[in-house]
Amino acid sequence: LPAKALVQAAANSGLRAVSVRHSSQAPKVALLGAAGGIGQPLGLLLKQDPLVAHLALYDVVNTPGVAADLSHIDSNAKVTAHTGPKELYAAVENADVIVIPAGVPRKPGMTRDDLFNTNAGIVRDLAAVIAKASPKALIAIITNPVNSTVPIASEVLKKAGVYDPKRVFGVTTLDVVRSQAFVAELKRLQSTVRIHTFLCFQGHDASKTVVPVVGGHAGITIIPLLSQVTPSTKFSEEEIAKLTPRIQDAGTEVVNAKAGAGSATLSMALAGARFANALVRGIKGQKNVQCAYVASDAVKGVEYFSTPVELGPNGVEKILGVGKVSAFEQKLIDASVPELNKNIAKGVAFVKGN
Ligand code: NAI
Repeated sequence: LPAKALVQAAANSGLRAVSVRHSSQAPKVALLGAAGGIGQPLGLLLKQDPLVAHLALYDVVNTPGVAADLSHIDSNAKVTAHTGPKELYAAVENADVIVIPAGVPRKPGMTRDDLFNTNAGIVRDLAAVIAKASPKALIAIITNPVNSTVPIASEVLKKAGVYDPKRVFGVTTLDVVRSQAFVAELKRLQSTVRIHTFLCFQGHDASKTVVPVVGGHAGITIIPLLSQVTPSTKFSEEEIAKLTPRIQDAGTEVVNAKAGAGSATLSMALAGARFANALVRGIKGQKNVQCAYVASDAVKGVEYFSTPVELGPNGVEKILGVGKVSAFEQKLIDASVPELNKNIAKGVAFVKGN
């Protein structure tokens, strides 16, 4: 039966609509750190992504339970469980996209850099196996400190002779998601008009607000470009002075609210799933633009920088750069460069010295 007739037949018989694959490509996504606070909800979202054909879950503990649970969801992705270093190779072999939230999160009072000692080794060891088993995969690194873990994975891949700068990403999507939520919230509140007893919402719909965020993924290196918000939005200087640090410290807001129970997991899962879906769409030829922390020549004097990038079949197809920024944003970009260089050098030294 042709695809349309299949969908119609399913609808007629009272079944839910089935997603019909139009491409011969069937992406495999491997999720490393799948049993964690981010890993579990991220696995849930990836299992529901109609573009994912195979979801390989890897963790050092508890993977079978998470996989059994997810495999009972009636979506098409096949789920496999892989536990411990001996099963890592099989988890990542032939993967098109590898998403990495493996590692410890922050507790109140910690910076992302405080996680370096534990997480640097985790990312290094995962990257070493990826270099052998799946050197062509697109690798999306969530593990903090992202500013350093991306250079760490890159150095490991360089050592193995399989590095492709277009295929290694630091996931900064949560900074974009937060910025979009905060901007939409602020502008929606401002444009709320009371008519009799009804509230009329005008202006910003969070799902249609786009805020590019450039730089890196920690403190002052997180730079929301409020001058480039679409739909076009005016901010007072006071608003910019309040919103910018709120976006930069949003992760800490969650860490403090969770009071020792970890950092952002649910919003990060959403952001991770959105980014993984964008990578898969790119692989399937559906070019799209996302912000990501990648090897980049967008800003002078720093080797890795997050800007909007065009994603396609080979990962980064084009680095779109920071675009036209305000004087305030340019100052933030300039200030981020030495900080990023420190983070990058720390990651590079970790691999070179090991
Ligand atoms: P979590 O502790 O809840 O989960 C981490 C998981 O990684 C655990 O299941 C653990 O068993 C697993 N793991 C540890 N060592 C591993 C290894 N060698 N191989 C595979 N899995 C391993 O932590 P959570 O909350 O899921 O956070 C994970 C990471 O994501 C942290 O580094 C955190 O800082 C980072 N993060 C990044 C964000 C971003 O925007 N890029 C936002 C929020 C968190």
